[in-house]
Amino acid sequence: MASMRHIISITDLTKEEIIEILDIADRLKDERRKGILKEYLKNKSLGMIFELPSTRTRVSFEVAMNDCGGKALYLNWNDLQLGRGESIADTARTLSRYVHAVMMRVKRHETIAEFAKYSDVPVINGLSNMEHPCQILADLQTIREKKGKINVKLAWVGDGNNVCNSLILASSILGFEMVVATPKGYEPKSEILSKAREIGGEIELLNDPKKAVEDVDVIYTDVWVSMGQEKERNDRIRTFKEFQVNSELLSYAKGDVIVMHCLPAHRGEEITDEVIDSEKSVVFDQAENRLHTQKALLIKLIGDLNVG
Ligand code: CP
Ligand code: NVA
Repeated sequence: MASMRHIISITDLTKEEIIEILDIADRLKDERRKGILKEYLKNKSLGMIFELPSTRTRVSFEVAMNDCGGKALYLNWNDLQLGRGESIADTARTLSRYVHAVMMRVKRHETIAEFAKYSDVPVINGLSNMEHPCQILADLQTIREKKGKINVKLAWVGDGNNVCNSLILASSILGFEMVVATPKGYEPKSEILSKAREIGGEIELLNDPKKAVEDVDVIYTDVWVSMGQEKERNDRIRTFKEFQVNSELLSYAKGDVIVMHCLPAHRGEEITDEVIDSEKSVVFDQAENRLHTQKALLIKLIGDLNVG
């Protein structure tokens, strides 16, 4: 099953592979609940390069490796020689001699592409300014658990950002309906929209959150100020005001709608306490599922599902 390939965009996986990862993740989740941990990643090491902070990505990847008999190394960008100007290419060549895969969280998407070019081991995107594919795998597992199917209608409300981009591409690959409501000027990147259309996706773009949530099974939001955009904070808070996911917005949606957020949340900004703490919210299931889906992805890339 193991093969040398990079997962930089969600489009690096086919529909069949995404479904396979979700099926494996369901199995691993069930096994963990029963206290069964098998050495699917025995003696494997994962390097984790972080140029930006993280709670979920860091801990879930580290526990995933540990649970499966492997080891994860937390490598802060500024503690590596990268921080003193060693090239990305030389870092990739060096780490390839030590670890079996590298997960990276970077400011600029191009950094991962550059690293992957010189890496002899699989490179996984743990968030860039363009995409967050690992998040989307966990989200899809959560949607399937809660709704019993992937083929839902999903409304994105807020900033057309990295998480939104990967969701758009996933909806095109898997064929589920997605409507995106953003303020004017904060739509997803045109290159993502054209890539989605190439794959066959039909993304509806709106500027009215109330209209967007009518008729949908899932409402998804994320912070208004992503990592690296701190300077734009004041403008963004003003611009996004009407895009808060609150009880009033939910009153325009179906009664059985679920609310998703990749976290970290800025409570009181893009989502209210009332909504994120309500029974419609599945945000901590999403966070948990990062663990199971990333195990499944790692096993697919560098492990062996047929142990034990
Ligand atoms: N959702 C997510 O990637 O969270 P972290 O930034 O905590 O890793
Ligand atoms: N859009 C957010 C996601 C954090 C997981 C950011 O890039 O900061």
